[in-house]
Amino acid sequence: MTLKIINPYKHIIFPFNHFPKLNDFYLLLKPKFIETKELFNKDSNLYIEIGFGKGDFLINFAKNNKDKTIIGIERSQSLVKEVSKKLVLNKIDNVKLIEGLAEFVFYFYIPHNSVELLIINFPDPYPKKAHINRRLLNKKFFKLIYPKLTNNALIYIATDCDKYRDYIIQELKTLNIYKIEKFILGFYDENYQTKYLKKWLKLNKKIYSFIISKKV
Ligand SMILES: C[S@@+](CC[C@H](N)C(=O)[O-])C[C@H]1O[C@@H](n2cnc3c(N)ncnc32)[C@H](O)[C@@H]1O
Repeated sequence: MTLKIINPYKHIIFPFNHFPKLNDFYLLLKPKFIETKELFNKDSNLYIEIGFGKGDFLINFAKNNKDKTIIGIERSQSLVKEVSKKLVLNKIDNVKLIEGLAEFVFYFYIPHNSVELLIINFPDPYPKKAHINRRLLNKKFFKLIYPKLTNNALIYIATDCDKYRDYIIQELKTLNIYKIEKFILGFYDENYQTKYLKKWLKLNKKIYSFIISKKV
């Protein structure tokens, strides 16, 4: 497989959004882990946001954490391009963007024991029963990312969907390799906003957040 890298704004973009959901086919492919040193000119753990959307959270988080090496993963090519431009406008150089499905990007590119913080704000909830298998956060995904996380890593998740909230709790319980450190009614950090957070707050919807750690 050839790797096509489009690099218009000096952020990496891998056009892999057409890959299917996590399945046995690409588990047969050999991973090509990224070199943090090569990407960021320094060896450090990664901070990753999956599904950054319009990038409100990612940009502010990067501004407030200039010493951190941050990766944003998003499957929508247009959003990757839009946020890429915002990074340039805001002169942010500690963020790299990867276009693709998080499941694939994690399996294929993210090195083991490298992720210190994983953020997933308002993952698509797929509330209908028939669509549950489209959800990103399930047993398979949590198992896949487990070795990629450092032992002291944290995962921050926010959702407005009570069915997804319960599903996450159930999946984590069955898997039994993570601990829910905190369950919060509301968004986990009042210093940050996201497009969907604003939208749901305007509609007076309840927000649920999780802070999750690894059982080691
Ligand atoms: C409901 S939006 C939330 C966007 C943003 N986090 C916010 O809070 O405003 C979900 C985002 O996740 C992206 N997404 C959904 N599934 C994905 C996947 N498997 N890998 C990467 N991005 C994904 C979508 O393209 C979309 O931008």
